Amino acid sequence: MTTRKILVTSALPYANGSIHLGHLVEYIQTDIWVRFQKMRGNECYYVCADDTHGTPIMLRAEREGITPEALIDRVWQEHKSDFDAFHVGFDHYGSTNSAETREFAYGIYNKLRDSGLIESRAIEQFYDPVKQMFLPDRFIKGECPKCSAKDQYGDNCEACGAAYAPTELKNPYSAVSGAAPEMRQSEHYFFRLSDPRCQQFLREWTTGGALQAEAANKMQEWLGSESDSKLSDWDISRDAPYFGFEIPDAPGKYFYVWLDAPVGYMGSFKSLCNKLNTPSPDKGRAGEGFPSPNFDDFWSPDSQAELVHFIGKDILYFHALFWPAMLKNAGLRTPTKLCAHGFLTVNGEKMSKSRGTFITAQSYIENIKNTEYLRYYYAAKINGTMEDLDLNLDDFVAKVNSDLIGKYINIASRCAGFISRKFDGVVATHNQITGNRGSQLMGIFIGSEELIADAYENRDFGRAIREIMRLADRANEYVNDMAPWVLAKQEGQEAKLHEVCTVSLNLFRLLTLYLKPVLPKLAEQVEAFLNIAPLNWSDTDQILDGKINEYKHLATRLDPKLIAAMTAANTETLTPAPSSVTVAGENTHSEQRHAAHQQSVTKAEVAEAEKDFEPFISIEDFMKVDLRVARIVNAAQVEGAAKLLQLTLDVGEAQTRNVFAGIKSAYDPEQLKGRLTVMVANLAPRKMKFGMSEGMVLAASGDEPGLFILSPDSGAQPGMRIK
Ligand code: MSP
Ligand code: ZN
Repeated sequence: MTTRKILVTSALPYANGSIHLGHLVEYIQTDIWVRFQKMRGNECYYVCADDTHGTPIMLRAEREGITPEALIDRVWQEHKSDFDAFHVGFDHYGSTNSAETREFAYGIYNKLRDSGLIESRAIEQFYDPVKQMFLPDRFIKGECPKCSAKDQYGDNCEACGAAYAPTELKNPYSAVSGAAPEMRQSEHYFFRLSDPRCQQFLREWTTGGALQAEAANKMQEWLGSESDSKLSDWDISRDAPYFGFEIPDAPGKYFYVWLDAPVGYMGSFKSLCNKLNTPSPDKGRAGEGFPSPNFDDFWSPDSQAELVHFIGKDILYFHALFWPAMLKNAGLRTPTKLCAHGFLTVNGEKMSKSRGTFITAQSYIENIKNTEYLRYYYAAKINGTMEDLDLNLDDFVAKVNSDLIGKYINIASRCAGFISRKFDGVVATHNQITGNRGSQLMGIFIGSEELIADAYENRDFGRAIREIMRLADRANEYVNDMAPWVLAKQEGQEAKLHEVCTVSLNLFRLLTLYLKPVLPKLAEQVEAFLNIAPLNWSDTDQILDGKINEYKHLATRLDPKLIAAMTAANTETLTPAPSSVTVAGENTHSEQRHAAHQQSVTKAEVAEAEKDFEPFISIEDFMKVDLRVARIVNAAQVEGAAKLLQLTLDVGEAQTRNVFAGIKSAYDPEQLKGRLTVMVANLAPRKMKFGMSEGMVLAASGDEPGLFILSPDSGAQPGMRIK
């Protein structure tokens, strides 16, 4: 077999959210595949990086009062430590905000421009007049132009899958401020994918074997037919303010985050090459036994190396169309394979905060500790398709305990003790294994190698695990039938006992070899226990020899209580107190819904919002609420409204504010005129049936009827900030 050169990547996680169990479906499966390739003796490198650019990261840093650089540094540390804990063994974990990525992004852009594939033209784009910035597609929400689903993002519909321009949305609103966006002109840069060169190339590339069948079909749908092409030019620039790379020949314009994100694969690999080409004592295990990799061997157009990207099905479009088109036209190689996977559900449903199933990597580590349990469970369920994958928490406990502990670990724990106690830790020699059944079984185990390797190679890890567990069953049958604990008590059965325990440990060794891509830490412990060199795939035909070490317990059963503790730790704890200061509005419920929309700006922002569930808020959180003293200049009934009064408020600004407050049941408008009260001044303006509401006044209420607006002490002036 010839040695393959393989560069493997996982999608770069956004640098503004925590890693959760959904992400880990991808990183664990990539890692398993990479470990398998390395065990096979292939020259395989695994790189990844944080995806650091874009508006959500800029806005989050702004909210936290730190620079985007400080934010991405902190998140990088968090991500890296989560990945380490789950044994995701990147050879390099970089950042897209690096000199290497910048240089490659510029190089690619210049090539595209020189081939006439970049065009600039003025476009009309939504602008948020409150936040004073152009709104990226994902920051505009509204109704889907195709199916009318509400609250869809500006780029595509999650209900019907349609892709469209944000200008096509019905009833658009800014996801940043809630304001109705205005149209403004701006010069943008486009990658001319509509150019016949790109069209033709993509038609060929997407049917050339790099994609799974279902992905290839999806692409044909997205590409349209030759006579009716659906591929339009791709807008690759964004206006300041933006956190990203400034376009070299266009000051004030930045590359859209998705332009430089995949380039991060190259940047990270370049950093790895630099690292491995610099003499240093701790190069890690990357490319062990191989000369340092040469960047061009992997990226030149005639490269013989494989380039394999693992991605979620949600980002197929970027990887199957934009990315290969960029590479091709920049004179680089294109990917060998895109391995797209489905999404994680927990207990059959979308991950949910209220059910405690939006589980962060961190909380798994804190509560369950053993991360290989999850690796095992995912492996058992991954099949190389784009189907979603369910983490059923009861099934998780059952599988870990019955398969991993009950079948696999059990073999060693039942046999090892006899070897240490009765045979001084020395296993029987090859010649001492005379029983037919033991030799046959070892033969069957060795003979399963190709089948299991084939399943791993094709990312059907579920098939590999099923095969391995079938073998484990046979090993257990053998142990049960031979009953070493009985032999140990019988006179003259020492040789048999020695043989049976040795055979069992050899079977255990082979199971360990086969499971090693999935359970790398456990395999390491087993290697230490069996006193053997790190197992490689070609070691199947070796057998144990000489002295082994004393058996120490390798893994314990998974206690379902730990799962309960983990879901409790992830369950939303913020429930409204029965008696509290509440927001007086027409409909508190719809207010909350609206606030929720504002949160769900992008996937990354959702992840971030999901993360931020803590019983306490920080002073910075509190300071985000701009509370002001307001004078009620006027108060009036609202025709047709059962609960509302219309208030005109002076908050020390040139203009008064118009606010609809749900306090009609408690106040006569006349009584309110001239009073001072407290309002939330930076609440996004909201269009109501009766007009625009530009803030909220606060009122206290309890279980009993009654509503009480707040008043500052005398001396307070309209516009004073409450803090
Ligand atoms: N930053 C982009 C990728 C850029 S690649 C050049 C991104 N980041 S992400 O953090 O949102 O997602 C990272 C990867 O995790 C993606 O492949 C995504 O599909 C995957 N997953 C995120 N949530 C997931 C689940 N709930 N389930 C399975 N995979 C999920 O997209
Ligand atoms: Zn739709």
